[in-house]
Amino acid sequence: MKTVACLGGGVIGAGWVARLLENGIDVQLYDPAGNAKTSVQAVLDNAEHAYAKLTMAQRPVKGTLRWCEQIQEAVSGADLIIESVPERLEVKQAVYAEAERYAAVDAIFASSTSGIMPSDLQAQMKHPERLIVAHPFNPVYLLPVVEVVGGKGTVPATIEKAQAFYRDMGMKPVHVRKEIEAFVADRLLEAIWRESLWLIKDGITTTEELDDIVRYGFGLRYAQMGVFETYRIAGGEAGMRHFLAQFGPCLTWPWTKLMDVPEYNDELVDLIAGQSDAQSGHYSIRELERIRDDNLVAIQQALKANEWGAGLVLADYEKKLFDKGASQDSTQATNDTSQPIQTSRRRIPPDWTDYNNHMNEARYLQCFGDATDSFMRMIGCNAAYIDKGKSFFTVETHIRHLDEVRVNETIYTTTQVLKGEGKKMHLFHHLYHDDGRLLATGEHMLLHVSLETRSACLPEAEVAAALADIARQHKELSLPEGAGRSVGQTL
Ligand SMILES: NC(=O)c1ccc[n+]([C@@H]2O[C@H](COP(=O)([O-])OP(=O)(O)OC[C@H]3O[C@@H](n4cnc5c(N)ncnc54)[C@H](O)[C@@H]3O)[C@@H](O)[C@H]2O)c1
Repeated sequence: MKTVACLGGGVIGAGWVARLLENGIDVQLYDPAGNAKTSVQAVLDNAEHAYAKLTMAQRPVKGTLRWCEQIQEAVSGADLIIESVPERLEVKQAVYAEAERYAAVDAIFASSTSGIMPSDLQAQMKHPERLIVAHPFNPVYLLPVVEVVGGKGTVPATIEKAQAFYRDMGMKPVHVRKEIEAFVADRLLEAIWRESLWLIKDGITTTEELDDIVRYGFGLRYAQMGVFETYRIAGGEAGMRHFLAQFGPCLTWPWTKLMDVPEYNDELVDLIAGQSDAQSGHYSIRELERIRDDNLVAIQQALKANEWGAGLVLADYEKKLFDKGASQDSTQATNDTSQPIQTSRRRIPPDWTDYNNHMNEARYLQCFGDATDSFMRMIGCNAAYIDKGKSFFTVETHIRHLDEVRVNETIYTTTQVLKGEGKKMHLFHHLYHDDGRLLATGEHMLLHVSLETRSACLPEAEVAAALADIARQHKELSLPEGAGRSVGQTL
């Protein structure tokens, strides 16, 4: 899917827009609110900040955002239509009626609704088979899960196609096979929410104490094992059966007040809102969003290192990005390789800079490492080749730092092969600012190795030939200024 229409750009709609753009998909957005541009931009800024930290993999060039004046304009030419308008059935149905007049017949309609049944949403549609609920979580650009629910009229192909698309964007679609109001997640959240309101109304605890009990305790467990795996462990060696035997009797005790709802009145609102202000009022919402996003990124990265839960989704997403990067590299390789080859291009993320806002020293090495990786993929030393047990290892590096570069500025590298024969690959990278300034050079000697024996060996014929071909062409170029320098030579 290349173009997606977003109808509604509030909290959730803007989150979808951000995830789509960050994944290189073009978005056509319609939202009638006067302040929509400002509020959507704030979400896009947050997403850019978060993605820069989420993954070091080269991401696709961002998609473009087109603001549309009407639904007709937004849905024209769109492969997918994401509806995130207010949670009222008649509003959503009116939007579908208008959108169906102009949408392609095979465009999928995906509603972000938190609880309306898809069968009700599609009841008046001309082509109900293409509607699903795809219920995401805030912030949509960072939380992987999306509950996918079909209605009576939905065909399985719609669900499958949509799920594949969400996976490609680093998400974890979970198909909820039977439609019920509020689906799965919001049923669970509603249970906790109701009980929380009672606990505060009855003066048992405050909003802050309750949040502490969640985030210092079972909230940490939920983020990595959910409900059932956690309780399985709680049953000890005897597992879930023992846990059920132990806590089963509590089910008949009056522990929760789920069906008994506290009266919603000014007194309750003042109590909850007042305590919440005292707890968190010293932060702006923007500050809280950034703190939340940074924490969500860190948690997902920790889970990735442990190869678990949401970390596996992030790892899979990164693998896809690397594979895509590899195919971009090979497209480049078919272009002119007689000149130094562009091997990377990126904007400097905020956390790559030091206290002066300049890119820090270690990141120069990362840029050159990424350029080397990209070049290796170009000559066929890609993930599949490495999986088979061979690769190049860097054995020597010389970097010259020539100019400074700041956060959010764009840089790129070019790579020249000084030597590429036998086991040796001698590369010279230039790091440029987008304005043409030379920022640094990196000279690197790599040896081809067997990952089994950990000793040098000759590359496979295809890799050797691709490298030799570029080396032969680059031999015609003059030796780059600074090649072969050692530390301490006069500048
Ligand atoms: N907020 C959440 O945490 C959350 C989570 C998951 C799902 N949802 C669901 O997402 C949907 C949107 O919720 P939200 O929180 O983003 O609400 P919101 O109020 O922040 O945004 C709704 C947006 O829709 C726009 N809008 C109104 N009428 C429209 C129309 N006819 N066409 C296009 N845009 C229109 C509004 O201007 C507004 O910007 C709801 O169905 C909600 O249940 C919300």
